[in-house]
Amino acid sequence: MGDYTNMSGYYDVIMTSGYYDYKKIVDSLTSHGPQLNVLEIGCGTGLILEELAKRQPSLPITGIDLTGPMLSIAQKRLAPFSTISLSQQNICELTLDMQHELAFSYGGVWYFVMDGDKEPFMVSHIADEQANRLGFERLSAHMAPGGTLLLGIQGPHHDYETTISNGMVYSQKIDPTPIGFTKHYYLKDGAQTVMDQTVHYRTYTFAEAKALMRSFGFEYVNEPDAHKMFLQFRKVSV
Ligand SMILES: C[S@@+](CC[C@H](N)C(=O)[O-])C[C@H]1O[C@@H](n2cnc3c(N)ncnc32)[C@H](O)[C@@H]1O
Repeated sequence: MGDYTNMSGYYDVIMTSGYYDYKKIVDSLTSHGPQLNVLEIGCGTGLILEELAKRQPSLPITGIDLTGPMLSIAQKRLAPFSTISLSQQNICELTLDMQHELAFSYGGVWYFVMDGDKEPFMVSHIADEQANRLGFERLSAHMAPGGTLLLGIQGPHHDYETTISNGMVYSQKIDPTPIGFTKHYYLKDGAQTVMDQTVHYRTYTFAEAKALMRSFGFEYVNEPDAHKMFLQFRKVSV
């Protein structure tokens, strides 16, 4: 179920070595206009929320994540921002005391992969079908009517290795499975493997993802994102 404990101590150095472009992610988020409140699902170590709060210091923000050690790092990073509240929660059991105008996930619980002109497909950190349904049901219950859900877009996944900014070697290996794929993440310091983590992902065709999400009140909005970072869904009545 998408646990990032093994990677947590090295997550920031891997991601900020060029894996994600956090400034571009937040450029895209802020282009969606002024918001009353924002929810990030799968906020990890808080790298996006830090950038967002720096740019919008009075915006109430909630971040949730399943993995305690990821959230501990986020708590330290985001302590200076009194408008951010963090909570350790699995999206499938999400319980917060408010509805949100904007929710987003970038590389978090759900995301889309786009490969050139091919149709996008959705990747879920949740392998179980029923648990995905619960996740969208809980998320839907925490969205304001007419609210916006943004799910991040990533390029195609492939096997590779690269030296990151601390001199260690990051590598990833993808194995197809009947429900999607398994991704193995490794970090090596010389000959020593200092981190390895495996996540089992479920994938959905674009048509399957849209139908699943529509059944929980998320309607696909076919408007291109100028920054090409997110696909957009609007919360409507079911
Ligand atoms: C690749 S990280 C992305 C973190 C952050 N969005 C970023 O851009 O750096 C994926 C995060 O999703 C979280 N996650 C996976 N499944 C989850 C679930 N069912 N509920 C809540 N969080 C989940 C993991 O714990 C992990 O921190």
